[in-house]
Amino acid sequence: MEKIKRLTVAELLSRHEDLVGKKVDVKGWVRTRRGNKNVQFVALNDGSTIKNLQIVFDLSRFSEDQLRPVTTGSSIHVQGELVASQGKGQSVEVLADELEVYGTASPEQYPLQKKGHSLEFLREIAHLRPRTNTFGAVLRIRHALAYAIHKFFNDKGFYYFHTPLITASDCEGAGAQFQVTTLNPEDLPRRKEDGKVDYSEDFFGKMASLTVSGQLEGELGATALGCIYTFGPTFRAENSNTPRHLSEFWMIEPEMAFYEIEDNMDLAEEFIKYCIRYALEHCADDIAFLEEHFDKDLTERLRFVVENDFVRLPYTEGIRILEESGRKFEFPVYWGVDLASEHERYLVEEHFKKPVILTDYPKEIKAFYMKLNDDGKTVRAMDVLFPKIGEIIGGSQREESYEKLSERIEANGITGMDWYLDTRRFGTVPHSGFGLGFERLVLFVTGMQNIRDVIPFPRYPKNCEF
Ligand code: 4AD
Ligand code: MG
Repeated sequence: MEKIKRLTVAELLSRHEDLVGKKVDVKGWVRTRRGNKNVQFVALNDGSTIKNLQIVFDLSRFSEDQLRPVTTGSSIHVQGELVASQGKGQSVEVLADELEVYGTASPEQYPLQKKGHSLEFLREIAHLRPRTNTFGAVLRIRHALAYAIHKFFNDKGFYYFHTPLITASDCEGAGAQFQVTTLNPEDLPRRKEDGKVDYSEDFFGKMASLTVSGQLEGELGATALGCIYTFGPTFRAENSNTPRHLSEFWMIEPEMAFYEIEDNMDLAEEFIKYCIRYALEHCADDIAFLEEHFDKDLTERLRFVVENDFVRLPYTEGIRILEESGRKFEFPVYWGVDLASEHERYLVEEHFKKPVILTDYPKEIKAFYMKLNDDGKTVRAMDVLFPKIGEIIGGSQREESYEKLSERIEANGITGMDWYLDTRRFGTVPHSGFGLGFERLVLFVTGMQNIRDVIPFPRYPKNCEF
């Protein structure tokens, strides 16, 4: 073939007015092929956009034999003239001059033949589902959101701070950690006299786990660099089989010195609106596709969140509203209870019909590091609750008093936190932060129903395929 610069379908479509009449070079995967005795039409997709490029094969130039391997899923390279399209549904098409087939895809074996496979079926072939329109759209939006997150924080002067994935501490104290060990399970139990496993022989010389959150190390960064954020994978071994939980998920955790709870709420609201606005501006085609096929209110819901102030409400008030709602909840409501998703969604979807930031939770249901309020009963926590999602962000002002924090650490039976307490021992400052569950944000922006469908290779109980 002639040496001309290959263009992606996205590049070609965005410049099509200049390119009409010129010879172009494109590569991609065949989505469909149809036609008649005289002409065959191939819809080509290369992942750069939800849009397919139509390739026209004139059968006076190509033989049946040449076109036989051009079936759904095969990969091809085409050169030809870009012309204004005569058909409906596309503005331009390529009149093929030359064809090279990179790889065939047997129609008997390639599983993505027809349109409209169920999401459940696609989950079973998660290694191939990025080739579908739906997952192409979701994954492009996921990328755009990740980029927007880095851009938001970079433009604000925050530093991207890398916290460890393997750790010997348990940030959330929920005990839902995956252990990291090179001890041979066959040799266990390798007990000490007191009946405990002797980790001195293990790789790190102590018990180690995959992190549930980078926050504690993030606080070390913030109390040195001022404002930092993390963006990395986190791991939770909770046995939660829900459409909103993963065992491996990505979390963004900003941590800011000299921020009080109000500053923290302001940042969270500005941040999440920025991300959604970014997706609306940069992923319009993909959002439109998902709206048409899955969620007809998607754009409206996204715009609504961007354009309205979030409600800010103390937990105690939230409990009162739930108690007075007259609603029968599956889990009973009373002051002190950890809110379930049905409670959160009642407040957001039915009572306020807006995102809600719930603050000042009872200290018993929140992590040890949160700043105690003067009432001695509640802590300066903040959860951002979203329609259809429930909790999307969890955060707090941190306890900066060495005395109060070490008391709470002791009361919780936590050990080995001396390094963390040094932030309070030396030059302690008021500071705050929060964690955004990345997949919950992607879930909201794509309008998908199940968190397993917004990450390429989901991990959840009894599933570690691919
Ligand atoms: O509320 P969480 O547990 O808070 C923390 O980990 C804090 N250390 C954050 C901080 O203050 N720096 O988790 C934060 C967010 C939740 O609001 C939720 O969006 C998401 O992480 N999340 C999960 N997402 C998917 N699957 C799971 N199993 C999740 N658990 C939490
Ligand atoms: Mg939480």
